[in-house]
Amino acid sequence: MASTPRFIQIHREDSAALRHELAAGLLAQPAMVSPKFLYDALGSRLFDAITELPEYYPTRTERAIFDAHAAAMAAQAGTGRTLIDLGAGSCEKAARLFGVMQPARYVAVDISVDYLRQALDSLQRQHPHIEMLGVGADFSSSLALPPEVGTGERLLFYPGSSIGNFTPVSALRLLRQVRSVGGAGGALLIGVDLVKDKAVLERAYDDPLQVTAAFNLNLLRRLSALLGCDARIEDFSHVALFNQADSRIEMHLQARRAVTLRWPGGERRLAQGERIHTENSYKYTVEGFDRLLREAGFTRTACWTDEQRWFAVFLAS
Ligand SMILES: C[S@@+](CC[C@H](N)C(=O)[O-])C[C@H]1O[C@@H](n2cnc3c(N)ncnc32)[C@H](O)[C@@H]1O
Repeated sequence: MASTPRFIQIHREDSAALRHELAAGLLAQPAMVSPKFLYDALGSRLFDAITELPEYYPTRTERAIFDAHAAAMAAQAGTGRTLIDLGAGSCEKAARLFGVMQPARYVAVDISVDYLRQALDSLQRQHPHIEMLGVGADFSSSLALPPEVGTGERLLFYPGSSIGNFTPVSALRLLRQVRSVGGAGGALLIGVDLVKDKAVLERAYDDPLQVTAAFNLNLLRRLSALLGCDARIEDFSHVALFNQADSRIEMHLQARRAVTLRWPGGERRLAQGERIHTENSYKYTVEGFDRLLREAGFTRTACWTDEQRWFAVFLAS
């Protein structure tokens, strides 16, 4: 077997389309930037640090659900599939399932290309007998996989409640694409964060060590690197709040003083206290997410939760 996995790079950070998307978001009222821009090699490492925080319950709660129920999930999903990890990050969650899921092939997809390459190289060394493929792609507007993924039966894996970064309408569109990419006999294993006490939610996205603040503020470095924008980290502070009406945590960067962001071809003035909206993280009920899966065309669903019903893992086919 190969000692280095194949890597196909579809996503390019230097594309004009990406710069245009970023500039359009900064010029919008209110200013809004997709959370996908939070992830470069440093953003991915900061996210990994967030998952170690005691306040950030999603990772350890989801891990406990997998530890308790992975065998039942594998029995229902079937083993020997092509395991396709969407937004794979460190690939750590999928790797923990290799033992029970026995994937014939592992495909890791992520926008954070450099970080994914490193993670996958290291994983391939640990599991030389599993064929691995890396795909550097941005699936925010459409999910398309290269033919190299092959024709084996597919299990799509979308943990970490990353689906919560999409509005319910966009989440429905993505789930429909997942179903279509899964093909006949395909299945989806997906982690979903559930509605809970506001204080627990807000602490998870605004930790006292300020790791999440650093993760959010890293976006300003991205604006400089991608757009040539003169954003200064010291001009902004991190804000995380639970918007009860929309059932979502929102992250913002709030101007500490009046700021003008300038980049080649544009500028955006922000008054003191004005915000750039950087991330949504929608929180679902089990019933609400089950409905969304069915609306997306999945007909059979199973669900596992923790005792507190803080987090859910769904298997849909
Ligand atoms: C919340 S993290 C989850 C990481 C890991 N799967 C986990 O559960 O811990 C979201 C991951 O999705 C990736 N990502 C975010 N937006 C993306 C996009 N539009 N296309 C591809 N990957 C994306 C990020 O780089 C990051 O690795």
